[in-house]
Amino acid sequence: MRIRTFDEYQTAYQKSVDDPEEFWAEIAQNFQWRKPWTKTLQWNFTEPSVKWFIGGKLNITENCLDRHLAERGDQPAIIWEPNDPNEAGVTLTYRMLFDQVCRFANVLKRNGVVKGDRVCIYLPMVPELAIAVLACARIGAVHSVVFGGFSAQSIADRINDAQCKVVVTADGAYRGNKEIPLKSTVDDALIGCPSVQKVIVMTRTRTPVSMLKGRDVWWEQEVKQVTADCPAEEMDAEDMLFILYTSGSTGKPKGVVHTCGGYMVYAAYTFQNVFQYEPGQIHFCTADIGWITGHSYIVYGPLACGATSIIFEGVPTYPDYGRFWDIVDKYKVNILYTAPTAIRSLMGFGLEKVDNHDLSSLDVLGSVGEPINEEAWHWYDDHIGKNRCPIVDTWWQTETGGILISPIAGITKTKPTYATLPLPGVQPILVDENGKEIEGNGVSGNLCMKFPWPGILRTTYGDHERCRQTYFATYPGLYFTGDGCLRDEDGYYRITGRVDDVLNVSGHRIGTAEVENAINMHTGVVESAVVGYPHDIKGQGIYAYVITEGDAGGHDAELTKRDILATVSRVIGPIAKPDKIQFVSGLPKTRSGKIMRRILRKIAEGDTSNLGDTTTLLDPAVVDEIKAGAL
Ligand code: PRX
Repeated sequence: MRIRTFDEYQTAYQKSVDDPEEFWAEIAQNFQWRKPWTKTLQWNFTEPSVKWFIGGKLNITENCLDRHLAERGDQPAIIWEPNDPNEAGVTLTYRMLFDQVCRFANVLKRNGVVKGDRVCIYLPMVPELAIAVLACARIGAVHSVVFGGFSAQSIADRINDAQCKVVVTADGAYRGNKEIPLKSTVDDALIGCPSVQKVIVMTRTRTPVSMLKGRDVWWEQEVKQVTADCPAEEMDAEDMLFILYTSGSTGKPKGVVHTCGGYMVYAAYTFQNVFQYEPGQIHFCTADIGWITGHSYIVYGPLACGATSIIFEGVPTYPDYGRFWDIVDKYKVNILYTAPTAIRSLMGFGLEKVDNHDLSSLDVLGSVGEPINEEAWHWYDDHIGKNRCPIVDTWWQTETGGILISPIAGITKTKPTYATLPLPGVQPILVDENGKEIEGNGVSGNLCMKFPWPGILRTTYGDHERCRQTYFATYPGLYFTGDGCLRDEDGYYRITGRVDDVLNVSGHRIGTAEVENAINMHTGVVESAVVGYPHDIKGQGIYAYVITEGDAGGHDAELTKRDILATVSRVIGPIAKPDKIQFVSGLPKTRSGKIMRRILRKIAEGDTSNLGDTTTLLDPAVVDEIKAGAL
């Protein structure tokens, strides 16, 4: 499974293209299967239908836990670093984690969860989050983790879409110097969620919470009622493992579905190879488990490989902006995997808090979630890696399950801002607007994939047609990523950003349509249009053009802006709040009523010199007004 030289990479890559089934079958042998598969792959991108390791039976937790017990039962599986550095952390060995997962799996069963049921998890970054995820997988329940920054409304939408039976949450969460009331947010959500029968609440902040008789139970009391004996449920390779909601260019977030066999093989294979993980190394991925990065590279990938994975509850700037370096120093971290937005925000504080920590344990640095600019890349390389740690700029998506395009640490020659080359099994293709392949090097186009890899999404929950429409209909026969991409003279790939109406704000994926819908729910708002603009720290900022009725209820503009932000926070969550709101009297529309976003994007970017052809607009004068009032 392990690539050790560039030659080996090339050989593996060639084999993965010439004989993908044989290639992945060999890799999949490295896992524990209850029953071997009978056919490695069956697929078409028209329905679409993708099945890997057909007929194979397994349980991913046997691969992440049971099989490590004999050899590394006493090795740390999870190291938990609390928000407050003065609070004692927790280290869970593989044996302890196994014990706790089995116990909590029994708690889920005790509360009525059976194989196939959906469980919503809304927890802070505590060990119990990983435990709850794995406990679901243990009994074949489908987890749907919702990031702690989402609002009650967003939780309710996700719970209802998946018809979750149980919610696992905490009283509250600590994030920096804030205390966030999770249970009360869940209570608000559950007013509109008839499918939920039980809520399991763990204590973290011990803030007062209402506990509804018959519905709400305490985690701590429940685990006392059960044993640690919980045989793993036998799962089909194509049984659902989890749903993770993500934003698209239209409508509500979609529930991306990943299945047991292919996801496991792909998360582990990419973890091992991209980071060149060696047994005993400490891996620190700073993402939240509420996003795909946390699923694949805090929980499943590292644990399937028997690694030690750090879960960090807090934020990079608390109690000061040296927190990441403090953690690296304290636990002698070998692999650090973070997002460009974090690097850019820490860069701004200078080197004092970097230089007073020993970072010599670091071997590999990773970047994920958004394009990394050259300046941030060099800062990371010079000051964190001290020019001796390869940087892997890993490009992938919620839908891909694992990394698709990335250097292999220390093996692929890196180039700042380039995700470089596709991993074995990954067959990228660039196409033009009409879906025609753009061949050769030194070209750019829309990034698609022409062949499935084991970690590809299988469907969007409850709406397969939406999956087909979103990913497989734009360019028939291809999986469309939604990203623009450049392939340089060396055949290296550089992701240039989304070509659809999806924003990437601080590495968080947000649909412009979602934000518009939220703004439009505010009283007095007639219409809005949201676009992204370049932001020094966040990568992209959110710029909203808003039309209001009259004088918006007699309030001044500043107050109305704040009210709109409150509405967006309430509807989606604070992560979707616009950075800029400009009130306008009209939007540039074509005669057929389509908003010309190209113009709005240019104005938001501050580039008004050449707005292109505006003659097809219904009311060209509106553009001058918007230009004049641009923020
Ligand atoms: O635009 C790409 C960007 O993030 C999008 C996927 O977001 P999400 O599903 O939330 O997953 C993020 C973590 C994997 C992509 O369509 N993106 C992700 N990684 C990179 C990136 N853009 C440039 N470079 C990357 N390394």
